[in-house]
Formats: sequence, C-alpha cells, structure tokens
Amino acid sequence: MAETDMLEVSIWRGNEAGDFVGYRVPRHDNQTVLDVVTHVQRHIDPSLSYRFACRVGVCGSCAMSVNGVPRWTCRTHVRRVASDLRLRIAPLRNLPVIKDLAVDMRPFFVKWRRARGYFISTATREDAFARVRPDSPRRRQADQGIECINCAVCYAACDVVAWKPDYLGPAALNRAWTLVNDERDEHRDLHLHAVAAEGGCLSCHSQQGCLKHCPMGLNPAAGIAGLKRAVSGALLRGEL
Ligand code: FES
Repeated sequence: MAETDMLEVSIWRGNEAGDFVGYRVPRHDNQTVLDVVTHVQRHIDPSLSYRFACRVGVCGSCAMSVNGVPRWTCRTHVRRVASDLRLRIAPLRNLPVIKDLAVDMRPFFVKWRRARGYFISTATREDAFARVRPDSPRRRQADQGIECINCAVCYAACDVVAWKPDYLGPAALNRAWTLVNDERDEHRDLHLHAVAAEGGCLSCHSQQGCLKHCPMGLNPAAGIAGLKRAVSGALLRGEL
C-alpha cells in the first residue's frame, strides 16, 4: 500500500501515567475514528482498551479526545479531522483514566445523582396517564435537552470542570433542567435545591464549550442559564 494510504496514529496507552504510542493504520473511504481504533485493537495490539457499543451515535460510549477535541468517535469521519493523515487519540479529559482510552465514568454519574437528575413522582402504574401538552412552555424547554446520550463530551469540553472538580458539569445540569420543566415531576424544589448548592449551576462561567462540542446539538449552557434564573427566582421568593 502506498505511503499516502496510511494514517499516522498516536494513541494513549496505560493509565494516568501512560504515554502516546504510534501506529500506522490503512486509510479507507468513509472511515471513522472508531474504525481506526478498532483496527489497532484487532490487527496490531489486542490489549488496547476502549469502549463502544452501538456504532451509530446512540449509546454515547465511544467518546474520546481526537486531536485535542472531545468527540463521539463512531460518527466522526477521519476525513473531517485528519486532513494531514495524523490522528492523536486520547481518553476524555476531566475523568480518571482506567486504561488506554477507557475512562472511569463514575464521577460523571455521581454528579447526575448530586444534581438530582432523576424523575421524582409518587404516581404508580394504577394512575391515569399524565397529560402534558407538547406545546406547553415547560414541555418545550424540556424537549430541548431531552436527547442527551450521556457521552460526557460536554463534561470533557468544560474548563470549569477542569478548574473546579466539584462542579456538576453541563450534562448533569442539563438533565436537572429537563426535570425542572417536567410537569409530571413532583419535586421541582428538590431539583432546584440540588443545583443551587456549591458546585451547581451558579458555578457555570457560560463559556459554552458544551454547546460547541455536544454531538447531539444540544445547548446545555441555555439550560444552565434557565436554572440560574429559576434558582434566583426561588431564592428571592424565599423558597430555597
Ligand atoms: S458507539 Fe454508541 S455512540 Fe458511538
């Protein structure tokens, strides 16, 4: 194969104290970054650790840093990010490295819990279906954030998370915003209380790295701004 048909790929190997290792991978049309990583694992070094599941942009498990930018690798075509045929692939920023490209997602999901990013209701299967008008203002707000796939790209892109490790981060706050606007959820107050605490929505500097990099095109920064307004209003009314 001609020299120009090969990609020069550097991949992080090891844990936090690891280093980049170089590989040469054949270039193909319509090749994704995940295809490149998979080629290395299947044809060069089977000990390479990384995550993926769906390969079609649904599960959110394949996110990595590609040439310094957090991306979902199964939907990132090499031609878009490696015009010089060079790729530098690293684990996501702001999360502990377990091995190679696999990060420990626990801190990310612990923060979802801290943000009370779960539905709170006493309704049971015996109750009638809730009726929520799709064009109601709150439903429209919730709809704008509901398609999050938990990939942690926004979390890795966020400089505030890097500077302030207890900051809940864009994904957890986006989830809280969808619940604050969910008319079926019975504890808007608890969600607001959780995101008003230290490290919550008021820590956001509105740098909008989350908006820039979210592969689903969501705007967590707008949701966080909504939380700031809702928290401020609740504080002024003496509800928090
Ligand atoms: S493998 Fe599922 S989103 Fe990429």
